Formats: sequence, C-alpha cells, structure tokens
Amino acid sequence: MTIVNKIAILGAGNLGISIATGIVEKKLKLPSDIFLTRRHTGLLDKYRDLGYGVSSDNKKAVEQSEIIFLCVQPKQIDALIEVIKPVLRKDHILVSVITGVSLDLLREKISGVVQLIRAMPNTAVAIGQSMTCLATLGADTALEKVDPLFQTLGLTLLIEERLMQAATVLGASGIAFFMRYLRAATQAGVQMGFDTEEAQKIAVQTAKGAASLILAHNSHPEVEIDKVTTPQGCTIEGLNEMEHQGFSSSLIKGVMTSFNKINQMKS
Ligand SMILES: NC(=O)c1ccc[n+]([C@@H]2O[C@H](COP(=O)([O-])OP(=O)(O)OC[C@H]3O[C@@H](n4cnc5c(N)ncnc54)[C@H](OP(=O)(O)O)[C@@H]3O)[C@@H](O)[C@H]2O)c1
Repeated sequence: MTIVNKIAILGAGNLGISIATGIVEKKLKLPSDIFLTRRHTGLLDKYRDLGYGVSSDNKKAVEQSEIIFLCVQPKQIDALIEVIKPVLRKDHILVSVITGVSLDLLREKISGVVQLIRAMPNTAVAIGQSMTCLATLGADTALEKVDPLFQTLGLTLLIEERLMQAATVLGASGIAFFMRYLRAATQAGVQMGFDTEEAQKIAVQTAKGAASLILAHNSHPEVEIDKVTTPQGCTIEGLNEMEHQGFSSSLIKGVMTSFNKINQMKS
C-alpha cells in the first residue's frame, strides 16, 4: 500500500473539522488527502462534496494515513482505540488533541510503538490563527512534521506536558473568554448609540488591533495602556472603574476556576 502522507482525522466534530479546514485553506493538503471519520457520516455530506474522504471506518482511514489526529471526546477514546489498535504501525504519528488524556495514558492504551504527540490547539485553527501548545515524550522526528503543520495554522509553543491543562484553559477555553469580552463591549457600544453590527465591528477590530500591537512590539500590555491613558482622561477613569468592579480579579478567578475544574476531570 502506498502511503502518500495522508492525514486521518478521527472524530471530525468541531475541532477535527477546524483542523481539516485550516490544513486545506493553507493549501498544505488537498481535501482528497484527508480522511474525516465520525459515526454519523451524514453530518459530513458537505465535506464529502468538497472532496474529503468521509467515512465511519476508522481502521481504513488509519491504514491509509501517516498522521492521525485523535479528535474524539475523552469518553469516546477507548472505543476508538480498540478499533484502530490492530492497524497502528511504527511509522504512524498519532496526534491527540483530547483534553485530559496524558501521553503516558495514551501509550498505555495503544500499547504500541507509534510516535505520540499531544496538541492543544483552539478553534481558530480553522482560519490559521490558532495558539497550539505541543508536548511529546521525546518523539522529535514526529515533532519535526507536526510542528510546522500547526505553525502554518497559527503559533505553536512546545511545553512540558505537566502544563497541558493550563494551556487548555488559557488557549482553548480562552477563545470563549475573549468572546464574552467582545459580546460585553458590543453591548456597551449599543447602549452608547451604535447598532449591533457597527458596535461589534468596532469591538472586534479593536481587540484584533490590541492583540496585534502586543505581537508586533513584543511589549507588556501596560506599556500599550500607558499610550492611551491621558492624565485625568476618560480611559483611565473607565479602566479604574473596571478594576474597582473586579475586572482583572474576576478574569483571573474565572480562569483559575476552569483550571481547578479541568484538574478534577478524569478521562
Ligand atoms: N473545541 C475546542 O476548542 C477544543 C480545543 C482543544 C481540544 N479539544 C478536545 O478535542 C476533542 C474534540 O472536541 P470537539 O469540540 O471537536 O468535540 P465534538 O464536536 O463532540 O467532536 C467529537 C467527534 O467525534 C466523533 N466520534 C465519536 N466517537 C467516534 C468514533 N468511534 N469514531 C469516529 N468518530 C467518533 C463524534 O461524531 P459521531 O457522534 O457522529 O461519531 C464527534 O463528531 C475533545 O477531546 C476536546 O476536549 C477541543
């Protein structure tokens, strides 16, 4: 059988589809180079029409691929591994995005010699703007293939696996946290007189600009804040009121609550 560096995405749900879409949009692969699997394949008709290899046959997808993404929910992993275990090969690279499943646990489950990588992207992977944290058990050759792939889909950071739960909260749940900020800013804009569409456009582009300033200058947020706060001006007055109301504190507490929760979750 010829392996043409195909990719299998086992569990083509929200994140799996985001990864596939990102890979194709960045022209790293054609849809026909990617297998998408899930049990309810009818929900993937749109992707079948786009040329992806859609199937519920995980075994076949694995047999015909080099890089295999495990994108199922934590409770679905055992059933999936049961099916693919017999066809896993030494040259396979298994990339798990499954929350809370350690590399050691995964190795134990597959009891095989495949190269393992744990990745924590976020849903912005679909538009090439993910923050993806990666960890390995020393699978350096695999990392050489997988890191560039995620680099074209955003930024990557190689981390110690013990920090993976923190990375999940800050990077993956972080999308939801920032969305809530954008919704609140939009609501404030509407209260001041913009219609929703205008308010959202201003809030979203401003958030993008703020993040881009930090990325471009590699500066501390407070340095950028100093540039827009005039003494006795409206910005500092608003900022201080936000802090009196617990803005930073509630954010940190929210992130830490998510972190405590993820640490209690068992796979
Ligand atoms: N969403 C995020 O931002 C994010 C970020 C980082 C990591 N993660 C992790 O990524 C994983 C997937 O998250 P998600 O949000 O994409 O979940 P999801 O939308 O529920 O996707 C999981 C998919 O797996 C499919 N599936 C279940 N059992 C299967 C099997 N035996 N064979 C093939 N497909 C199977 C399900 O479809 P069927 O029911 O049709 O089979 C479903 O489409 C989770 O472990 C999550 O913790 C998510």
